[in-house]
Amino acid sequence: MKIVVIGGAGYIGSHAVKLLVERRHDVVAVDNLTNGHRGSVNAKARLEVLDCANTAGLAALFKLHGTQAVMHFAANAYVGESVSDPRKYYRNNVGNTISMLDAMRLADVKRLVFSSTCATYGEPKTVPITEDLPQNPISPYGMSKLMVEKILLDCAHAENLAFAAPRYFNVAGAAMDGTIGEDHRPESHIIPIVLQAALGQRSHVDIYGNDYPTPDGTCIRDYIHVWDLVEAHLVLLENLQAGKGLFYNLGVGRGYSVREIIESCRRVTGKPIATRETARRPGDPPALFAAPDKIARDMNWRAKITDLDTIVDSAWRWFKANPAGYR
Ligand SMILES: NC(=O)c1ccc[n+]([C@@H]2O[C@H](COP(=O)([O-])OP(=O)(O)OC[C@H]3O[C@@H](n4cnc5c(N)ncnc54)[C@H](O)[C@@H]3O)[C@@H](O)[C@H]2O)c1
Repeated sequence: MKIVVIGGAGYIGSHAVKLLVERRHDVVAVDNLTNGHRGSVNAKARLEVLDCANTAGLAALFKLHGTQAVMHFAANAYVGESVSDPRKYYRNNVGNTISMLDAMRLADVKRLVFSSTCATYGEPKTVPITEDLPQNPISPYGMSKLMVEKILLDCAHAENLAFAAPRYFNVAGAAMDGTIGEDHRPESHIIPIVLQAALGQRSHVDIYGNDYPTPDGTCIRDYIHVWDLVEAHLVLLENLQAGKGLFYNLGVGRGYSVREIIESCRRVTGKPIATRETARRPGDPPALFAAPDKIARDMNWRAKITDLDTIVDSAWRWFKANPAGYR
């Protein structure tokens, strides 16, 4: 299939590009490189440096490439920043997604997979989180993603768009061959932060809150390996239905606590890794993990890489080989 991956130089997008190339799809990556890295894009895919606000440019590219489907990963994704600068998030995550949808319409591209997030659920009353729980995001970031889910549903009905909006839990790890990995600046995800401490790039790791109602007092989250996640995108793409939206949680279905993550990083790296216990952060619920059953039932897909040490080991191999990230 001829597929355009927007945000294709980012963490998840670059893994999607690699997977699609390996499965012999014809891939163009689009990225404005605000947070992406040229070096992360597989050599067999073309990179177009373009902003998805540029409807005319994107439409021309879609047409030139004979695009049959789009994977849209481009967004800003720092929850804290979205609280202090909400307009940045609504402009890029919502406004620029609409510009991208305009381009799809102009070029008559009807298939889309869009990155949504478990942040659309906010602070759910029950776990595991099923897709039918109320969506009450507590940050502009989560709200921006929920708004796009709603916009896509309306477009599906009005324009016969076929889309999926997988809701990711915490995406982690790196390509198993060690060629690409995670390089966010600044880094806000726990596994890279702990591994940076293992590399001596941080003096310690902060543990935010040690009195949560969880077995060891620290927050529990669901970590899905990035390769599993992008494979699920391909499964979704193959199962899109005209005029409909598919909503699925992408998680493993079990959670690990902050202390369990740190212990796993100590085991995998063999480094002691200092920690500092500090106050809870506002808006951090005790435990968030997916009910992964809906996609298993409907598409016969489940995450395969579920062992925490295996996930951490893949990330560690990337960080050890690339301590300064992409250059
Ligand atoms: N990483 C996670 O754990 C996680 C969890 C839930 C959802 N998500 C979502 O997955 C997607 C990818 O996340 P990521 O971690 O790979 O982020 P990332 O920042 O590494 O990748 C996003 C890419 O999009 C590009 N981009 C941003 N705005 C753009 C624009 N207007 N035009 C063109 N390119 C643009 C950036 O340069 C970057 O390369 C995001 O939509 C994010 O909200 C990620």
